[in-house]
Amino acid sequence: MLKMILTRTRMALLCLLPAVAAAQEAQTEKRIAELVNRMTLEEKAGQMTQITVEGILKRTKGEITEPYEVDPEKLKEAISRYKVGSILNVGGNAQSLRSWQKRITDIQQVALKERLAIPVLYGIDAIHGNNYCAESVLYPQQISMAASFNNDLVKKIAEATAYETRACFIPWTFSPVLDLGRNPSWPRLWEGYGEDPYLAARLGIATIAGYEGNGPSLNKYQVASCLKHFVGYSAPLSGHDRTPAWIPDRELREYYLPPFKAAIAQGAKTIMINSAEINGIPVHINKKILTDLLKNELQFKGLLVSDWQDIKYLFQRHHVASDHSEAIAMAINAGIDMSMVPDDFSFTTALIALVKKGKIPMARINDAVTRILRVKFYAGLFTNPVGNPDDYPLFAGPEHEQLSYTAATESITLLKNDQDILPLSTGKKILVAGPAASSMRALNGGWSRNWQGDNSDETEKDRNTILEALQERFGNNLQYLEGCGFESTGDLSALAEKAKEADLILLCLGENSYTENFGNIHDLTLPAPQLELASAAARTGKPVILVLAEGRPRVISSIEPLVSAVLLAYLPGNEGGNAIADIITGSINPSGKLPYTYPRHPNSLLPYYHKYTEGADVDPHGFSPQWEFGHGLSYTRFSYSNLQLSSKTLTANGRLRVSVDISNTGQRTGKETVLLYTSDLVASITPEVKRLRGYQKIALQPGERQTVTFEISPEQLSFIDATLRSVTEPGAFRVSIGGLQDEFHYQ
Ligand code: BGC
Repeated sequence: MLKMILTRTRMALLCLLPAVAAAQEAQTEKRIAELVNRMTLEEKAGQMTQITVEGILKRTKGEITEPYEVDPEKLKEAISRYKVGSILNVGGNAQSLRSWQKRITDIQQVALKERLAIPVLYGIDAIHGNNYCAESVLYPQQISMAASFNNDLVKKIAEATAYETRACFIPWTFSPVLDLGRNPSWPRLWEGYGEDPYLAARLGIATIAGYEGNGPSLNKYQVASCLKHFVGYSAPLSGHDRTPAWIPDRELREYYLPPFKAAIAQGAKTIMINSAEINGIPVHINKKILTDLLKNELQFKGLLVSDWQDIKYLFQRHHVASDHSEAIAMAINAGIDMSMVPDDFSFTTALIALVKKGKIPMARINDAVTRILRVKFYAGLFTNPVGNPDDYPLFAGPEHEQLSYTAATESITLLKNDQDILPLSTGKKILVAGPAASSMRALNGGWSRNWQGDNSDETEKDRNTILEALQERFGNNLQYLEGCGFESTGDLSALAEKAKEADLILLCLGENSYTENFGNIHDLTLPAPQLELASAAARTGKPVILVLAEGRPRVISSIEPLVSAVLLAYLPGNEGGNAIADIITGSINPSGKLPYTYPRHPNSLLPYYHKYTEGADVDPHGFSPQWEFGHGLSYTRFSYSNLQLSSKTLTANGRLRVSVDISNTGQRTGKETVLLYTSDLVASITPEVKRLRGYQKIALQPGERQTVTFEISPEQLSFIDATLRSVTEPGAFRVSIGGLQDEFHYQ
């Protein structure tokens, strides 16, 4: 009886929750409106200004003084004179937890002494962990997380990252990247969740859930996310960062928009804008995209922040405005709410003048400030502008470290394993060579303690490189060939000599760290010296195992036939060395799958969801990648059988259940990601050969069988038609899972 009463009371309370949340929201909106009403134009312009922290740090002879400290005079100038509402990032080297806590406390103390006591919104690029804090755990980068196909793990890492960011008293991270990784030349491919809109959307949702939870406001362990870079940033025609993209509206909505749309529906409150141009219009001045699409159609109520200096770039780089002032009017009128200026106060003063001259309506300013304050309330800054240092006992602790290791093991992808050469017994004599073997930069990539991640060999020297992890496991059975570079072969005769003693060669190739335009390349092929090293290794006659640590798929078709196994590590973070070594020696069974199509040729960069006319059966030079999206081997074998559809027809309000049996027919426990694709057989817009509509990662013991069930709704079969509407057209569809397929009708 008591149980029944308790259950009923709980249910009644649960029913009340939305009403309580709505009342709270109305209350907050009222407070925001009152504040906006009381604000002067100067205070409003200041709220819309974001500066870099480098501008307010102490300097000696122009250089930031170590240890970094806020210069009280400069801080006062920013907050009291210019009323700056937001600050970002770290200058130069990562700072310690304590120094972050002090820095944010110093800033908030000054802000709270101002007339309206509005706290500063501090934002940071916490990209793979809170990477600008010296002690924080570094996780695998997003592309690795995509290869894990593990939503729970992605959510847990986002939670841990939020925790460690909030421990620094920072409430806002410029993450996740939801740009679609369709162009492998683009140097930021590794910052996103791969080429597939559905996968990127699901993992985006998991990330937002981890960063923000789902309450009406953030607690002291959560941070506001920032979706970036809206929209189409990842599709430059040249493949180079921040260069023009040409994207028809239909493609924009079909492929590039869905991950953002899903994340907005999940509750994300801030969005950073694409620095580049689409169809000749810089996105920062595109009202159709910023206001009509994002704010009106998608009903996004949060704030839009520019990317770094992008309003100035409208006249400095894009040549669409004749000066800064004109650029500001264009961007703010198009819908930008906050300018990442970031080096001076020119935005603030010009904005005030523009409003006074009537070039920007006050209503637009009020809307921008309302959105900014909404995020500040949501982040809990009015009640907790700084945290309590004692609240974060898990900071950089073993639980978070373990999570980093688990994520690395779940993402690393075994692409080739001839004659089951892997795993290796530690009794084998191995020769390790290649530039990625002893590089922490190659494991972590950019955004690692500093922007380009170019200090990781120093900052992460206590972590195991691939070589060090292998040395721990193989001891005296391991020899190492020193001196191979990312752009130089090293000593090939020494390689031949040392190989005589070895049973096999473990070659670690790939890319050094980079981000943004530092990663622009002329050729997607792996640099020639590395290919030469691989050929020389093969010429020794010893079997070669290739380990790749790279942010994007560099073409290796000339050397792939020469090697017996390929293990793709992507950017697995600080535990990458250990995870790779444990996979090589077999204590971990690999379970990652490719989140992109691995190209075979630099001129053939099609995603798996290409059109029928692009297929190899139609064009002899058509789609023939090195490895397809979703490819990834295991040390055990999985077999798929018994594909069942609950019906042969699906109706408008119906659901189709699709089930399949998966058995582990090998000798080891393993994890398998089950991928469900559908194909629209006839459609008014030429359909893609297939699209991913569902995935589930399961674990199976040897001999175990499991039935996996998916549900397909008509909405999942929809596409954007010629009139830009989302439609599901009646007709035949094919469903395929693990090589099995069946058909059904939608009517
Ligand atoms: C990048 C953004 C980043 C911002 C702040 C820009 O250069 O494009 O992704 O969040 O800098 O550091």
